[in-house]
Amino acid sequence: MDDLIKLAPLDPPVLDVVRRRWSPRTFSDRPVSEDDLRACLSAAQWAASTYNEQEWRYVVARREDRKRFSKALACLVPKNQQWAKLAPVLMFSIGRPTFSRNGKPNPVWQHDVGLASGQLVLQATALGLYAHQMAGIEHELIRKTYKIPPEFEPVAGIAIGYIGRADDLPEDFRAAEVEPRTRRPLSETVFSDEWGHPGLIAEASGG
Ligand SMILES: Cc1cc2nc3c(=O)[nH]c(=O)nc-3n(C[C@H](O)[C@H](O)[C@H](O)COP(=O)(O)O)c2cc1C
Repeated sequence: MDDLIKLAPLDPPVLDVVRRRWSPRTFSDRPVSEDDLRACLSAAQWAASTYNEQEWRYVVARREDRKRFSKALACLVPKNQQWAKLAPVLMFSIGRPTFSRNGKPNPVWQHDVGLASGQLVLQATALGLYAHQMAGIEHELIRKTYKIPPEFEPVAGIAIGYIGRADDLPEDFRAAEVEPRTRRPLSETVFSDEWGHPGLIAEASGG
C-alpha cells in the first residue's frame, strides 16, 4: 500500500527547487564535488522516457581538468564562451533520434532528453548549485571532438556551478544578470476546450 501514496505538492504551490532555479551566467570558483555531479547525472538517469528508451547521453568536463575543459568550452558559440568559461562544469546533452530497438524515428526524443536535463538541473538546484542550459553550441565540432556516433545528435550545453557575482561578468552580461525573471501568465499557455480559451485553470488561479 505504501508505494501507492503519491503526494502532490499543495503548499507551497510549486516545489522549492522550481522556485529557486534560474539560469545565471556568473559562477564562483568553488568546484563542484564528484558526488554532487554524480547525483545530478543520476537524477537525469532516472527520468521517464518513451518505452524507457533513455535517449540521453552526457559528455562532462570539469574546470580542474584544464585540457578537457578547454575542449568543451571551444564547443560553445563565442557569445556563450564569454561567460561559460567561469563555470566549474560544462556538459553537453546528446540524444538519439531513432529507437535503439528498430531504428524507427522517435518523435519525442528531444522531449525525453530535455526531461532528463530538467531533472538534472533541479537536482543541481537542490544541492545549492545553479545550471545554465545553452542552445548555442557548435554541433559539428561536438560531433568531431567527442567522436559521436552518427545515430546520436548533440542537443544542448549545460554550465553548472555555485553562483558568482554579477560584477565578475563581462560588461555586456551584467544588467541581464540582475533583471527580474518574467513569465507568460497561465492564461496564455494553458487552454481548455479550444486553443486560446483559458477556461478552468485561469479562472481558478486568476492567472
Ligand atoms: C534549451 C535552452 C537553451 C538555452 N540557450 C541559451 C544560450 O545559448 N545562451 C544563453 O545565454 N542562455 C540560454 N538559455 C537560457 C534561457 O535564456 C533562460 O532559461 C530563459 O531566459 C529563462 O530564464 P531562467 O532560466 O533564468 O528562468 C537556454 C535555455 C534553455 C532551456
